[in-house]
Amino acid sequence: MLRRLHPDQPESFAFTPENQAWAEAQMTKYPKGRQASAIIALLWRAQEQEGWLTRPAIEHVAEMLDMAYMRALEVATFYFMFQLAPVGSVAHVQICGTTSCMICGAEDLVAVCKDKIAPNAHELSADGKFSWEEVECLGACANAPMAQIGKDYYEDLTADGFAALLDRMAAGEVPAPGPQNGRFASEPKAGLTSLEGGGARASANASVALATDLGDTLKRIDGTELPLRAPWNQPADV
Ligand code: FES
Repeated sequence: MLRRLHPDQPESFAFTPENQAWAEAQMTKYPKGRQASAIIALLWRAQEQEGWLTRPAIEHVAEMLDMAYMRALEVATFYFMFQLAPVGSVAHVQICGTTSCMICGAEDLVAVCKDKIAPNAHELSADGKFSWEEVECLGACANAPMAQIGKDYYEDLTADGFAALLDRMAAGEVPAPGPQNGRFASEPKAGLTSLEGGGARASANASVALATDLGDTLKRIDGTELPLRAPWNQPADV
């Protein structure tokens, strides 16, 4: 697939002060003269902040790392994790279309995207809230079909359930990620048949609990979420 920069670009890009500090701290992980090694981390942070990777953002990162703009552009256009077109203000939906998910109903989920979001992948919905694309296996095959929405996985989906999730997100809710059919994780639907343990089980698996605790499923990352941690920059006695 040919990956080009979007024709409509903003005038400029700037990291938030917190993200700028974070980015500068990442650069210090590498020996002097090797700051370009931080390219993926900085491009990703720019995308986390804006939702997609704009040309001014790529240029800003290239300047920070003292790289030729073309080198940064090569990285941004090579990796599919970088979104080169505007994404929905609420969420970008990534439907897994690989074998397990395809067998279990991924095409129905794509049909929901076409109906509720936009006819084509990487197009914004009419209200600008959502965008979608089909992606390769996301590694949750035992919970097929599934989608990554924002930063988290929504698994064991049905077309109707998925459509309802999008409606709730459009209304400002952040539904709990994870299995949507009552499963705890990827155990048999009828319940555990081995390793039953016997103790009380948490209400959600560790991944879902962490996502719920962090509360960043659909959130843009502006750098204020967690204190900046760069212990390698601190004096040994701090
Ligand atoms: S095939 Fe969909 S997560 Fe692996």
